[in-house]
Amino acid sequence: MTTIDYRDGVVTMIDQTRLPTDEVLLEIRDVPTLVAAIARLSVRGAPAIGVAGAFGVVLAARVHHPTVDRAEFEAAIDSIRHARPTAVNLARMVDRVASIARRDPAAAEAEAHQIRAEELAASVSMGDLGADLVIELVNKPRADVMTICNTGGLAAVERGTALAVVQTLHERSQLGEALPLETRPLLQGARLTAWELKKMGAPFRLLVDSAGPFLLSRGAADVVLIGADRIAANGDTANKIGSFSLALAARHAGVPFIVVAPESTVDMATASGDDIEIEDRGSAEVASVLGYPTAPSGTDAVNPAFDVTPVELITALVTNRRVVRFDQNQSLSS
Ligand code: MRU
Repeated sequence: MTTIDYRDGVVTMIDQTRLPTDEVLLEIRDVPTLVAAIARLSVRGAPAIGVAGAFGVVLAARVHHPTVDRAEFEAAIDSIRHARPTAVNLARMVDRVASIARRDPAAAEAEAHQIRAEELAASVSMGDLGADLVIELVNKPRADVMTICNTGGLAAVERGTALAVVQTLHERSQLGEALPLETRPLLQGARLTAWELKKMGAPFRLLVDSAGPFLLSRGAADVVLIGADRIAANGDTANKIGSFSLALAARHAGVPFIVVAPESTVDMATASGDDIEIEDRGSAEVASVLGYPTAPSGTDAVNPAFDVTPVELITALVTNRRVVRFDQNQSLSS
């Protein structure tokens, strides 16, 4: 089952809100439906929403000619671009395909497929580079890996980012066990990462979020691997809420903390983490679990979907092209 693809005016994607119980494919034919699917997290994860945005531009260009129906086309593009604010991949890939579509609408589809292919290739490279780095850093034949949220094929096209490294370690018989955090409020770790780890036959045990820092202090994992939604020019990294606590605990425990993300998630136009917009998803997701109320009705909540881990707490960044050792004072621009 493919995370996301496009053919003949139809974007197909697995509906991630229905996992792990139901494997349902959505068929999306228009921009408002695509925007709603991104906003409710039917498709989520930075690279995957970048690809969704790219195919969204193709849908827009089929209905509104980019130069003839210019206002309608630009309004549609804007709505896709702003479906979610934190992951840079969405706006970046929308802009990339839209600029082609404005010159040659017929070329938009090929560009969007090119983006999909690039993300797929990036996942393979990140898996290889990341697995090499993990084994070098932990200095053991097999590594126990803690991770958060979902960074697997569901968050990209196939294989993913941090979970691509876990998959590669598993394929090389270099994985001890994976320890995914369940990732409240929407449980991407429990619903999606555990589902993917089970499918790949990797050994894993699921943790509640608050167990992660404590278990690091007890030596349960050799390394923490996370993905990223946006990496600022100085290396500060926005990722799923809870990543920062894991980074603090990893530093306390002397465990390497590694960010795995494609170059498409690096945003040199954003100077530091302070400049990254953090999506707040409102009270309902916190005051309920999978739609079932867990707090008195009308409870207000604070619900940042992401946090920012300062570069000082990050051992290294692995992209599809390079390893940047922040712990050795390397920087993104060098
Ligand atoms: O809110 P989500 O589920 O889109 O959050 C996703 C994450 O935080 C991932 O860790 C990140 O996008 C990197 S995934 C390849």
